[in-house]
Amino acid sequence: KIKIVTIGGGSSYTPELIEGFIKRKDQLPIGEIWLVDIEEGREKLEIVGNLAKRMVKAAGLDWEVHLTLDRREALKDADFVSTQFRVGLLDARIKDERIPLSHGVIGQETNGAGGMFKAFRTVPVILEIVEDMKELCPDAWLVNFTNPSGMVTEAVMRYGKWNKVVGLCNVPIMCRKIAAGALKEKEEDLFFRFGGLNHFHWHRVWNREGVEKTGEVLESVYTKPDGLKNAMQGLKSSGVQNIPNIAFLPDQIRDLGIIPCMYHRYYYITDDMLKEELEAFAKGETRAELVKKTEAELFELYKDPDLNIKPVQLEKRGGAFYSDAACELIASIYNDKKTTMVVSTRNNGAISDLPDDVVVEVSSIITAGGPVPISWGGFDSSTRGLLQLMKDMELTTIKAAVTGDYGTALQAFTLNPLVPSGKIAGTILDELLVAHKKHLPQF
Ligand code: NAD
Ligand code: G6P
Ligand code: MN
Ligand code: MN
Repeated sequence: KIKIVTIGGGSSYTPELIEGFIKRKDQLPIGEIWLVDIEEGREKLEIVGNLAKRMVKAAGLDWEVHLTLDRREALKDADFVSTQFRVGLLDARIKDERIPLSHGVIGQETNGAGGMFKAFRTVPVILEIVEDMKELCPDAWLVNFTNPSGMVTEAVMRYGKWNKVVGLCNVPIMCRKIAAGALKEKEEDLFFRFGGLNHFHWHRVWNREGVEKTGEVLESVYTKPDGLKNAMQGLKSSGVQNIPNIAFLPDQIRDLGIIPCMYHRYYYITDDMLKEELEAFAKGETRAELVKKTEAELFELYKDPDLNIKPVQLEKRGGAFYSDAACELIASIYNDKKTTMVVSTRNNGAISDLPDDVVVEVSSIITAGGPVPISWGGFDSSTRGLLQLMKDMELTTIKAAVTGDYGTALQAFTLNPLVPSGKIAGTILDELLVAHKKHLPQF
């Protein structure tokens, strides 16, 4: 029987995860699920944990669902440990988004200055978890969802020296659905290849006959204002609820020749994205502030003792389909399914423009021994330098997170294309350091 531990169990996403396990009940002989949280999350854990128990019971399963604030008790003899915690909860995210915006700079929770601060807060905690795992469940796999997912995964390998880790994200899943919608094909009938970094990857697509359809998807979805809406009937967002569907620049996208992800909007059309964010900022409606309201609504629903399924309202959150990634990954490792999935893993030559030992987000074959990345090859001059810069920005950010060195943090800000260089970088850095002081013992 398998023991699964989820750290950050009080997340409103937990029903998504439980639903994913229930769907795969025939592939995973689950014995115990342990949901772990901390004192600040006690009430959330209680509410969502009880819903998880009702979901399991309603599915007729005898899995034990444990709720605990004792991480070490939970980790003992675990087989899979998934992480979905947010250090400082949503109030910290509000600061990550609002402080840069107050200086007219992109405020996004995984990109730019805010995303780097999310890394600063998260890296020390994930490294503590890894130390506990070395002692309590040395054979377990760590399945990381905690953002910035790629950087957190890199920190686990590079500084935690723990290789049984996989980073996940739902964006590639959404990209596949969009391409399938645009081509009016079934997803299973298409062949995809993804390459890049978490929230910074590109992809290509082929049909069953091996004919490349990348250009067709680019043209129909990304060069027309209504392209995405037409591809995905009824879709209001860019594919993920948290990113507005603002049109890319058609000529630049055509020149790119490969399909960008939703998050590339922050880099390719920074001015439009900033304008949109500043409007939200002025109204007190940044994404973090909206999510805080959604979360409160969700927890009201979760309290209903008659509710025993994942409510549709969870679709208002950006993480839709994320359980498909987490649960499918676990099922693939456990059963050596050799499924192809997009994950954050060690490059090992898959992207020839980056060193072997850095974490990249690429299509990989998921075996019992973990992900085996599929070769992407090299990037064109339109993307290569930007990708290398972003990887170095990530490495510098992680180094700052580990050492707490101010100069290294300022260097990371300077490297990040979304943070303007100079005194303004220092000002934003200083304000964020003060605002998050409680969660940054290393600085
Ligand atoms: P949230 O604010 O609800 O936080 C989740 C839980 O983590 C809270 O209950 C909190 O108390 C707990 N927590 C905080 N510090 C902890 C610690 N040290 N140990 C254990 N638990 C701790 O967050 P959310 O909005 O539900 O998101 C959860 C996380 O998952 C975030 O990091 C988010 O970025 C990430 N996420 C990632 C993806 C992806 O594509 N990779 C998708 C969705 C969410
Ligand atoms: C997407 C991203 C996640 C991110 C989420 C935010 O799904 O892949 O990494 O955490 O959006 O959604 P939210 O509802 O919290 O804004
Ligand atoms: Mn993601
Ligand atoms: Mn910069």
